[in-house]
Amino acid sequence: MSTDNIIIKYKETARFSEDEIDAVASTLSVYLGSLKSLAESADYEVPESFLSLPSDKDLFQKTTNIAGLFSGNPLKYVIVVGIGGSNLGAAAVYDAIFPKFDMLHSRHPKILFSDTNNSREMEVLKKIIDENIHESKEIVLNVITKSGTTVETIANAMVLFDAISSKFGEKEAVSRTVITTDEKSPLWKLARTKGMNVLPIPKKIGGRYSIFTPAGIFPLRLAGINVSEFLSGAVAIRSALLSSHQSENPALLCAAIDMLAHKKKLSIYNSFFFQPEMESVGKWGRQLLAESLGKKYDKKGNSVYAGMTPIVSIGTTDLHSMAQLYLGGPKDKFTNFVYATGAEADLIAVPVFSPFESLVPDIVGKDFQKIVSSILGGTMATYKENIFPFIETVFPQINEYYLGQYFMMKMMETVLLGKLWDVDPFDQPEVESYKAAARELLRK
Ligand code: PA5
Repeated sequence: MSTDNIIIKYKETARFSEDEIDAVASTLSVYLGSLKSLAESADYEVPESFLSLPSDKDLFQKTTNIAGLFSGNPLKYVIVVGIGGSNLGAAAVYDAIFPKFDMLHSRHPKILFSDTNNSREMEVLKKIIDENIHESKEIVLNVITKSGTTVETIANAMVLFDAISSKFGEKEAVSRTVITTDEKSPLWKLARTKGMNVLPIPKKIGGRYSIFTPAGIFPLRLAGINVSEFLSGAVAIRSALLSSHQSENPALLCAAIDMLAHKKKLSIYNSFFFQPEMESVGKWGRQLLAESLGKKYDKKGNSVYAGMTPIVSIGTTDLHSMAQLYLGGPKDKFTNFVYATGAEADLIAVPVFSPFESLVPDIVGKDFQKIVSSILGGTMATYKENIFPFIETVFPQINEYYLGQYFMMKMMETVLLGKLWDVDPFDQPEVESYKAAARELLRK
């Protein structure tokens, strides 16, 4: 089991003094104090209760019990149907642990994520059910929707349920479907009536804060991800995230720096990951920052048009795509370089003898980690030289434990920044308004 923590490096590069950071951070002490009691209680009375999820043993047991009905051989595919907060978290952890080229291997069970409505994607999924699934025990359909009525999710769920039903009969399709939703949603009631297994998303926990609920834990566990380590990482960092001293609390430190960066008109937040398998983690964080803090009104009702625009970059790929703009374009970006220092499992090195050895002699015999860390080092040196503010988020390793820490830390950072901006990080009024407008069009 891992013991140390993710660390944030910011001195000199964030370009804010300790006094400036302290002044912002200290305004959050009372709020942080009020959150302390939430960590251990599983009452879910307020949206910040996501803090208690990783140590909620009852919820974990419920999830494990249902997972136990399906896991092991011969399970081949878990199809997760959900969108936004209902699938981005699970997809992020899954992709980080099993990178996308894993499709080449025969490892099972695999998770297939289905979010938007796309006929070609649906055709592929239907084909998999038709041609690759030989007995119903090889598949689980996990439909995740807090509201229970999201158009895209229900449409995809209906098509896939129908495909399983056509092949194995409705009774089997029902027994292979697990619904994850709010206990008060219309879907909960319907699933119960039909005899499907159901897992709860606690009422006050919003989609983008739901990774530690069954929305994340159930499919990840089925896929063989070490969810106990994932939850342990979140628990291990939690007390630090409740400290009112920025020197002990990385979420508080980052929220204060974000606030100062935003004040300096750095309106774009670039999460620059130097491990490509972390791209989906970036996309999860992108939604978290965008949907939580992109707000027209503050809590007093003043129109504020708050927000920082999150973007995700991948090193070293995007250095050959976006770096010219980052270094030569508008000075409106704040960058967070995210990388791991620990050795990858099987380190690949450039061969010593090769017909290509004279082309770039300095790479001969060097392992890939050395190459990437040199490029990252060079990039950060250039940022420093050009006075582009940045911080570094350093993972000791990419594994479940540190991912658990990262998810908890980013959720806290978002909530604290929301407090500093006096906006509600838990609602999404504009998303609700386009959903209503789309429903209106569908009625015609
Ligand atoms: O974070 C959120 O609240 C949203 O992104 C929702 O998760 C998303 O709109 C899907 O909603 P639901 O889970 O109700 O299907």
